[in-house]
Amino acid sequence: MKDVMILTGAGQIGMAIARRMGYGMKIVIGDKRVENAQAVSKIMNEAGFDTAAMEMDLSSRASIQNLIAKAKEYGDISMLVNAAGVSPSQAPIEAILKVDLYGTAVLLEKVGKVIKRGGAGVTISSQSGHRMPALSAEADAQLATTPPEELLGLEILKPENIRDTLHAYQMAKRCNEKRVMAEAVKWGERGARINSISPGIVVTPLAIDEFNGPRGDFYKNMFAKCPAGRPGTADEIANVAELLMSSRGAFITGADFLVDGGATASYFYGPLKPGGGR
Ligand SMILES: NC(=O)c1ccc[n+]([C@@H]2O[C@H](COP(=O)([O-])OP(=O)(O)OC[C@H]3O[C@@H](n4cnc5c(N)ncnc54)[C@H](O)[C@@H]3O)[C@@H](O)[C@H]2O)c1
Repeated sequence: MKDVMILTGAGQIGMAIARRMGYGMKIVIGDKRVENAQAVSKIMNEAGFDTAAMEMDLSSRASIQNLIAKAKEYGDISMLVNAAGVSPSQAPIEAILKVDLYGTAVLLEKVGKVIKRGGAGVTISSQSGHRMPALSAEADAQLATTPPEELLGLEILKPENIRDTLHAYQMAKRCNEKRVMAEAVKWGERGARINSISPGIVVTPLAIDEFNGPRGDFYKNMFAKCPAGRPGTADEIANVAELLMSSRGAFITGADFLVDGGATASYFYGPLKPGGGR
């Protein structure tokens, strides 16, 4: 039996983190598009990793439970990498909330109940959650602690209160950060840690969909005018995941790390500020 990593979302960010942290483990890769999971599984197996691909849908509790059950057949689950998600140009409001918000909440809760002592997880949030204005303390608490099955019934997440897909995505990503804080308390009872990473623009198929979508010029302007002056790479997200998931991150849990080339800083205090700036 090996220690097991669950990887949800066989995209570029997920694969980069799995390659950085998953050596010597069994890596169970779940993706709604099973061909994506199979493609990543093949690349990694041919590079010396031990992976298995599965079809799974992050928006379905049953599918998440099935993934965890399959993973447990290989050994104890000691790592979680949640890099499954849909972006504002890829899906309607309901799907974004169901996958990115509800599904992530279920996954963190379910894995938190079985994670091995000393285990660690990361979930990929987004800079988008940082750009949205602060919510009320009550709304933050609701996003953090409402049972997953009741989340989408919250007033702040009702369709009439969500303006567009970008707003849905921002709410989902804000919720991810709050869930991570609340879950860190529970994961801590098992001696395990959970954190989130909020990437800026990272070149992946998802980001390329955004570059070619209705907000393409907005995104291209964002990386051109951020302090780094370029989009990021999945491997730079893995750099931070490595810190968070290794023993060097032993004192870090319930935290969110913004890794965006300074785009959020520029949005508030620089040339990316809406309506002008420097
Ligand atoms: N790329 C960026 O610029 C960027 C920026 C901020 C946040 N993110 C976040 O990073 C995460 C990973 O995205 P990526 O850029 O690596 O994208 P990607 O398109 O390379 O990978 C995402 C994967 O998730 C899978 N997926 C979609 N819906 C699913 C579902 N319901 N169940 C299971 N799998 C599903 C897709 O099939 C795909 O393989 C997402 O949560 C995204 O919101 C990406």
